[in-house]
Amino acid sequence: MKLETPENVSEQQLTIDVREIEPLLQAPPMDMKPWPGAMVKLKDGRTLYIREAKIDEAPLMMEHIKKYMDVDHDFYDIVGARVYSEILGWYRKRLKDPYHLVGLIDGLWVGLANGRLMNEDVNISLHTMALARGGRIGAIMYYAKAYYGFEILGNKEWWATYESYNGWMRWGLGMAQPSYPWPEYQHELGGARVYYVTKKYWDTAVKKYIQQMVGADLDFNVPDSVIKANAVMRAPDEVTV
Ligand SMILES: CC(C)(COP(=O)(O)OP(=O)(O)OC[C@H]1O[C@@H](n2cnc3c(N)ncnc32)[C@H](O)[C@@H]1OP(=O)(O)O)[C@@H](O)C(=O)NCCC(=O)NCCS
Repeated sequence: MKLETPENVSEQQLTIDVREIEPLLQAPPMDMKPWPGAMVKLKDGRTLYIREAKIDEAPLMMEHIKKYMDVDHDFYDIVGARVYSEILGWYRKRLKDPYHLVGLIDGLWVGLANGRLMNEDVNISLHTMALARGGRIGAIMYYAKAYYGFEILGNKEWWATYESYNGWMRWGLGMAQPSYPWPEYQHELGGARVYYVTKKYWDTAVKKYIQQMVGADLDFNVPDSVIKANAVMRAPDEVTV
């Protein structure tokens, strides 16, 4: 867009350092407390360790998640495509205040749960994926990110939505989440309904979810041996979902 200048100027062209554009495009990060890392005993006795993904793990994560774009059952394809873009958005700093939790068993990546903060009060749940099925890993990962929001970040509301029947059944129904009127309220994932959990509802009802689902709680007393066993993440060799 150009307009004639209303005044004489001594320099017709100005040069801009792109590093001056970056602060306008990149959202300044909020001061988010980190996820401390927690473990859960799965029903089959294995230990699932949930930690934050490291930014230098993003290329490995994208490389693996790409594969789910071709899985045309249970909505893995659309979730895979969106998760890929969310990891890339985090990596390229084009997502506001994201968090990515990874679920690992002896270093093997078996689950993901991510989201981002709209502001200090509202946590937007983005996606949860089970990369190994049958162990309720997805259910645990989702609970962990909601726990992070309410108990560690001090959020007041949780906004979710569902692309898949499994997701809706696990948490929309499983946590009896109400939804805001639609289309007045739309989730950023495709304008779908916003299902929500308030802090009060979390405290009174939802906190019991994980006990009912897996018969165990998140355990934040993680021994060094578990941290060490999961320090290096490796993606599954194949897609098995
Ligand atoms: C939604 C999701 C994260 C839930 O993960 P989960 O809690 O680990 O549960 P699963 O989907 O693996 O399994 C659901 C149920 O079907 C059974 N099941 C389905 N497919 C199975 C498989 N291939 N092998 C074993 N069990 C299977 C499970 O045993 C489970 O039964 P249960 O309730 O008695 O435990 C997972 O289905 C997923 O990643 N889906 C694709 C992405 C997605 O939809 N994400 C949510 C977006 S809204």
